[in-house]
Amino acid sequence: MAIGRVLQQEIQEAVEALRAGELVAFPTETVYGLGANANNPDAVRKIFRVKGRPSTHPVIVHIDHPRYLQRWVREMTPEAKKLADAFWPGPLTLVAKRAPAVNDVITGGQDTVAIRVPNHPVAQQLLNAFGGGIAAPSANKYGHVSPTRAEHVRDEFGDDVKWVLDGGDCKVGLESTIISCLADGPRVLRPGSISFSQLKAVVPTIQMGPNPSAPRVPGSTSRHYSPATPVNVVPSRRLETVMNEFTANHEKVAVLAQRPPGTANPFMTWINAGIRPDIYARNLYANLRTLDKASAKIILVEEVPEGEKWDAVRDRLRRSASAENIVTYDQDIAAWVADFGEEGGPPG
Ligand code: TXA
Ligand code: MG
Repeated sequence: MAIGRVLQQEIQEAVEALRAGELVAFPTETVYGLGANANNPDAVRKIFRVKGRPSTHPVIVHIDHPRYLQRWVREMTPEAKKLADAFWPGPLTLVAKRAPAVNDVITGGQDTVAIRVPNHPVAQQLLNAFGGGIAAPSANKYGHVSPTRAEHVRDEFGDDVKWVLDGGDCKVGLESTIISCLADGPRVLRPGSISFSQLKAVVPTIQMGPNPSAPRVPGSTSRHYSPATPVNVVPSRRLETVMNEFTANHEKVAVLAQRPPGTANPFMTWINAGIRPDIYARNLYANLRTLDKASAKIILVEEVPEGEKWDAVRDRLRRSASAENIVTYDQDIAAWVADFGEEGGPPG
């Protein structure tokens, strides 16, 4: 597989590949994207095939500058314009009414389109040289953990994706904030690194979460961002107890925590991801990939703190946990409250 080192020559080859209807994986500041010429429906269909993604899930169109917006969007609300001015280029995706020429394969047949102007220099270089829109979901198999390094893309797709431009580690590490700007007002569909307060400062009417009466967009509800090993989110004070339940039976446990372990245990793999939300987010997917390789029975994730700085991380962790494990987690809480009361601590 050719790995672009992002000399101008390699950008040029990637552009030629895109023009020929091939896929090119490229870095953005959030995660790596798997790109195709957004004006070529057959090329975009390849993305769905390679990812194993259902064809009804819409994809984001990336452009290098808002000057190309009118090719894709027929109407930007005043709120959309303000958000674009404030956060583009950057880790923000806007959903707006689509322009007539935008293909159904991009929008999943809806009347809206998602647009992003990334600020990663390699993404900018590529988009600029290509001169058009690049449709790109995150460069991972459907439902799996998003890639934040070129090697993650290679791990996902091997020889199925010939072009991978290597722009190093993604700085943000979580997917962009998605905001729909339609008749029902601005709404955060997916939290990202831009906090709700930062958004509210620009657009005071913004609301968290999709409109409950609007139809759900495919891809916005399903289990996502998941390693192969089951993930369970556990309150900090229960972490060692839950871990010991597994390791007592000599079952391996992988732990993503924000502190060092309280006890040594030969059956655990423990990552201390620290207490800074930006650094935790940047490393989250690489950490989950590392823990997924520990051949553990389960990945236990220490529940992250309350507060909006952790919104995006909390959202991804919730989705990476399987449905059964969320139930287990609720049962843990119920058992805990029954044993120790709301504020109780572990014995001894
Ligand atoms: O940071 C990111 O956003 C990365 C980089 C590569 O740009 N891309 C990314 O794409 O995360 P993807 O396909 O993995 O997630 C895009 C999400 C999906 O959940 C999809 O349902 C939603 O955006 N989406 C796309 N078009 C939409 C639309 N017209 N209306 C509502 N949601 C939409
Ligand atoms: Mg994705």
